[in-house]
Amino acid sequence: MRALVLAGGAGTRLRPITSTSAKQLVPVANKPILFYGLEQIRDAGVTEVGIIVGDTAADIEAAVGDGSALGISVTYLRQEAPLGLAHAVLTAADFLGDEDFVMFLGDNLIEGGIGDLVASFERDRPAAQLLLKQVPDPERFGVAVLADDGTIERLVEKPADPPSDLALVGVYLFTSAIVDAARRISPSARGELEITDAIQQLLDDGQTVRASRVEGWWLDTGKKDELLDANRIVLGTVTQRIDGDVDQDSTVTGAVVVEAGAVVTGSVLRGPAVIGADARIVDSYVGPFTSIAEGCVVTRSEVEFSVLMQGCVLTDVPRIEASLLGREVRVSRGARRPAAHRLLLGDHSDVELAEGS
Ligand code: DAU
Repeated sequence: MRALVLAGGAGTRLRPITSTSAKQLVPVANKPILFYGLEQIRDAGVTEVGIIVGDTAADIEAAVGDGSALGISVTYLRQEAPLGLAHAVLTAADFLGDEDFVMFLGDNLIEGGIGDLVASFERDRPAAQLLLKQVPDPERFGVAVLADDGTIERLVEKPADPPSDLALVGVYLFTSAIVDAARRISPSARGELEITDAIQQLLDDGQTVRASRVEGWWLDTGKKDELLDANRIVLGTVTQRIDGDVDQDSTVTGAVVVEAGAVVTGSVLRGPAVIGADARIVDSYVGPFTSIAEGCVVTRSEVEFSVLMQGCVLTDVPRIEASLLGREVRVSRGARRPAAHRLLLGDHSDVELAEGS
């Protein structure tokens, strides 16, 4: 059994963060999203991992390396353009050979790992085994229609008028039959070779396609609100650990992680929250569901329900919430006249000013 992890693609919905870095490397509780999937693959006993990369290959390779730190062996597979999930399978055809494999979308997070799923697939070896989850917005996903006996009748990618509310989760198990099926489909209306169509092809061929429901949470972190939600849920699983320095004038309540080298003075930290290595929190409030990455400096500011990536600097900012700040973003309050917001924002930035500010 091998693994194929998809970390190419464009990531337009998380711009401008993804204008300069890979969406799969955006951190959730200070760990890149991609690492959660890689760890679950390893924990299921699969160590030969192919990672599909595109324009952000250098970033992904710098973060994951040869995989040894994560206990896996990684082969990078360059996809010429983001031409679809089934195109990614075709790109990986030589790497996969005729082995069974688990395909994991690099921006998906699922609770509880994939060990049971891999074990049941290995026992029965259907051509494909899928995970489904009931969602309120099925038009954003691949959707499965089930027959009365629970078997899959058909699959449709992002239907305008969804025939069911069961979305396809971004973790799939396949035998090599999927490679042949992917060769026989045509691009969809959005110009991609859809994995959903390739699986439908397996059904049309009379092959066995099985599905089970995801019991826990599943998150597709493609947009800011989903990412903040993923951060909220994953932070909900941390326990308090203070390896950095927190002075007497600070208060720490709840599940807060302060990594080694971080310094907290005169501040209130209310968990769940994580403060990365070498960050400095000075005379500030860090509220629930906040991840502050390594090297950030927060001074006389308040931040809650937010993700700050490496090296952000907040100075004299009364309150930031529901925000995602990319690397080395600086936000400060100045005394210069006229009193005005002075902004230097990348393409596709998104700013909401508080009323009366
Ligand atoms: O998240 C689950 C959904 O993922 C499924 O319900 C859909 O059936 C499936 O098509 C897929 O839909 P998305 O539109 O969300 O896929 P997205 O384009 O975001 O790509 C998923 C991951 O695969 C992402 O990490 C980028 C990577 N990718 C994507 C494409 C199109 C590649 O590596 N190569 C590609 O060509």
